[in-house]
Amino acid sequence: MKIVVIGGTGLIGSKLVAKLGEHGHEAVAAAPNTGVNTLTGEGLAEVLEGAQVVVDVSNSPSFERAAVLKFFETSTGNLLAAEKAAGVGHHVAVSIVGTERMPENGYFAAKIAQEQLIEKSGVPFSLVHSTQFFEFARGIADEATVDGKVHIAPVLFQPIAGDDVAQAVGRTAVGTPLNGRVEIAGPQQYRMDEFFRKALAAWGDTREVVTDPHARYFGSEVTERSLVPLDDQAVLGTVTYRDWLDRSGSGK
Ligand SMILES: NC(=O)c1ccc[n+]([C@@H]2O[C@H](COP(=O)([O-])OP(=O)(O)OC[C@H]3O[C@@H](n4cnc5c(N)ncnc54)[C@H](OP(=O)(O)O)[C@@H]3O)[C@@H](O)[C@H]2O)c1
Repeated sequence: MKIVVIGGTGLIGSKLVAKLGEHGHEAVAAAPNTGVNTLTGEGLAEVLEGAQVVVDVSNSPSFERAAVLKFFETSTGNLLAAEKAAGVGHHVAVSIVGTERMPENGYFAAKIAQEQLIEKSGVPFSLVHSTQFFEFARGIADEATVDGKVHIAPVLFQPIAGDDVAQAVGRTAVGTPLNGRVEIAGPQQYRMDEFFRKALAAWGDTREVVTDPHARYFGSEVTERSLVPLDDQAVLGTVTYRDWLDRSGSGK
């Protein structure tokens, strides 16, 4: 099966292209540096020729509210139009668990806009809503740092390994379109402040983690269950954060 992976050179995209290839699929990585740009439309018609499935794991270079909204609206609109023209039968995109619960958050609002364009496109689709990637934890800590201290709310947090995300997205891509969503999360649930206290210790990072119920997550206050699946239907990854640290050499 020909599967085009938009953002196929990124964190999840490169893992996904490798996994699909191992399973005998023709997985094509599409990104600006392979000559495919979903913002301008460059290379889109050519790469989608003969494709049955498109997986969109692209990301905006800027997380600033207006920029990220423009990115996901423009890229998703161009991509879906090109898919219709090419007769693509399944569009898969990765979103975030809880987008609908935090529409005031600029990045989440952009992902909601992306989801809505997909849902009303008429192209059969599957949305994979993931919790935060282990690989993104340092970015979260840095963003939460005020005067050298990492301010984190004591809410539930269930991050997942990028490998587990790629596995779940790959399975979804080769399956029947859900015309709906699946949620994925890591195998262990934590209090977010406790997770970061342990993670910073493992990284050898001496910043203090301050438990702060009003700490903002990329600009938004979070409540107990803002960032985790609400029911027991989520597909859980198998890689624990401890195993991931050991495997990736990111811990001490
Ligand atoms: N981080 C998290 O914790 C998390 C959680 C849930 C969901 N997600 C979602 O997961 C998805 C993948 O994230 P990631 O961390 O794997 O992303 P990433 O590593 O930042 O990779 C982004 C990819 O998008 C490509 N790209 C950028 N602009 C493009 C354009 N105009 N046209 C085509 N491709 C373009 C990049 O290509 P170049 O490298 O050539 O620029 C790169 O291949 C995102 O949609 C994100 O919203 C993330």
